Amino acid sequence: MIVLLLLSISLILIYVYLNGKYNENYWKERGAKFYEVNKVLGPFWEFLISDRPLFQIFHDIYKKHPNEPAIGIGTFFTPSLYVTDAKNVHAVMQTDFVSFSERGFEMNEGDLLADNILFMGGKRWKLMRQNMTPLFTAAKLKNMYYIIDKSALDFVEHLKNNPEKWRRNTFDTLSTFCCAAIGGAVFGIGSESTYDSPFLEITRAAFRPTLWSNIRFSLSNLCTPLFKLLGLKLFSEHEEFFIGAIKQVLRKREQEKVKRHDFADICIQIQKNGVMRDETGFELVPSDELLAAQAFFFFTAGVEPTATAIFAVLIQLGKHPEILKQVVQEIEDVYNKHNAQLSYDAISEMEYLDKVLNESLRIFPPIGFLTRKCVRDTVLPVGNIKVAKGTKMYTAVYELHHDSRYHENPEMFDPERNLTDQKSETYLPFGKGGRICIGARYAKLQAKAALAHVLRSFDIKTVEHKGGLRFGKDQVQLRMKNVDIEFIPRN
Ligand code: HEM
Ligand SMILES: *[C@@H]1O[C@H](CO)[C@@H](O)[C@H](O)[C@H]1NC(C)=O
Ligand SMILES: *[C@@H]1O[C@H](CO)[C@@H](O)[C@H](O)[C@H]1NC(C)=O
Repeated sequence: MIVLLLLSISLILIYVYLNGKYNENYWKERGAKFYEVNKVLGPFWEFLISDRPLFQIFHDIYKKHPNEPAIGIGTFFTPSLYVTDAKNVHAVMQTDFVSFSERGFEMNEGDLLADNILFMGGKRWKLMRQNMTPLFTAAKLKNMYYIIDKSALDFVEHLKNNPEKWRRNTFDTLSTFCCAAIGGAVFGIGSESTYDSPFLEITRAAFRPTLWSNIRFSLSNLCTPLFKLLGLKLFSEHEEFFIGAIKQVLRKREQEKVKRHDFADICIQIQKNGVMRDETGFELVPSDELLAAQAFFFFTAGVEPTATAIFAVLIQLGKHPEILKQVVQEIEDVYNKHNAQLSYDAISEMEYLDKVLNESLRIFPPIGFLTRKCVRDTVLPVGNIKVAKGTKMYTAVYELHHDSRYHENPEMFDPERNLTDQKSETYLPFGKGGRICIGARYAKLQAKAALAHVLRSFDIKTVEHKGGLRFGKDQVQLRMKNVDIEFIPRN
């Protein structure tokens, strides 16, 4: 018994040693520095054993190696590269997009809801993305604005009616709001409050991370072969509700014949157009299941980052009364100019609010780093590092936003910074290139509408609890913790 135990332990140790050595040699041969703290699991090891978010662990590595073009990291037998240099990040995201066109999220055949543009790759992704893009044009958003406006108004009502939410669990309050608003944009709205939608409770519950969902996601990232072997589905428990809900809404819409300008409308249109086809003849059938999976991406990709974005702005405004004053002044001026309306055009005119949102997303980018998978052998421009097909890429975002070489005095909140000039290579809250966030325009509009309505009704203060602002342990997102917003009704 003891002998067997010792034997297994030695085998594991030998495996770990060999795997670590392999990873180390792999990257040294390619001329990249190797992260040696854990040669098998890289930064994921520290993520597993500490209570810190992954982006901060990456940031520590970044600060230790400010001039490395990229750093090899261990993730079992899949070569992985952490891209730190801004020019290399730009190459991976944009100029060499054809070599890095996949996100690297793994999924198994038959995982119906994972079959959406966030996870898809190759021709399938391209064709689906092309067909989804029209939903997010300025013209479509303008038509859809009545839904966004209604959800923002419902939010203010909800806040007014629930004083217990005035200085506690702000992030939770915001993410419920974003879920209600996105629910409206996807399934449509009626005359009742978006907070009374039958979909809200169930979508809220569905997206609370559980131990099991975390394990599946980690496994899909870190040990893809095992994830594939087990045939695990990431979202199987939501299939019944989601596909059912979409089917129900679509069948109802087919009868109605009223244009509502929401996602369900787009689905009907896509289904009417029939089989989707690209220039190479590749085809996709827009089944209810496929469209339900696209509806699903609104919730998985949209809710939490949008809530984080609004939270980021409120945290900054609640700390900078003079900037808050200027924002509120702009909102009032534009409101009066537009005959006491916060229309689409009114929101679009709020330039200072846009600057405040931009700068808040620099300090707190909701997604702390980006991932890609190499789909053909290539070379990174800085350092000439050879990258083989199959390599997983992790690219810096938060790190670039907080690097004083690109953003002077980076910890200072200054809405007057110009983030659109040459610095745009080091400012990527929505990512970059072919896989840039498809919902960016929609998300910004929704965040600004909510902020404009809320700030007309409430004054705000930022309350940092004892110990100050911290970030919660999370795989990709920034989760500001230990901080809340105090809402004070205006007279
Ligand atoms: C402020 C809120 C949001 C932020 C900060 C944000 C950020 C991001 C980022 C950083 C990416 C990765 C981009 C890349 O890899 O280059 C992304 C992708 C994506 N986002 Fe957003 N997002 C937000 C809101 C939304 C919303 C509301 C939706 C849905 C309507 C959405 C849908 C998506 C989708 C579908 C992708 C994947 C696109 C693809 O792979 O082709 N996002 N987002
Ligand atoms: C905010 O940032 C976006 C790019 O992310 C830019 O197009 C826009 O002009 C910026 N807004 C202002 C007011 O500078
Ligand atoms: C930012 O810089 C770009 C190019 O340097 C310039 O075209 C743009 O007008 C600037 N924006 C602001 C708001 O100063």
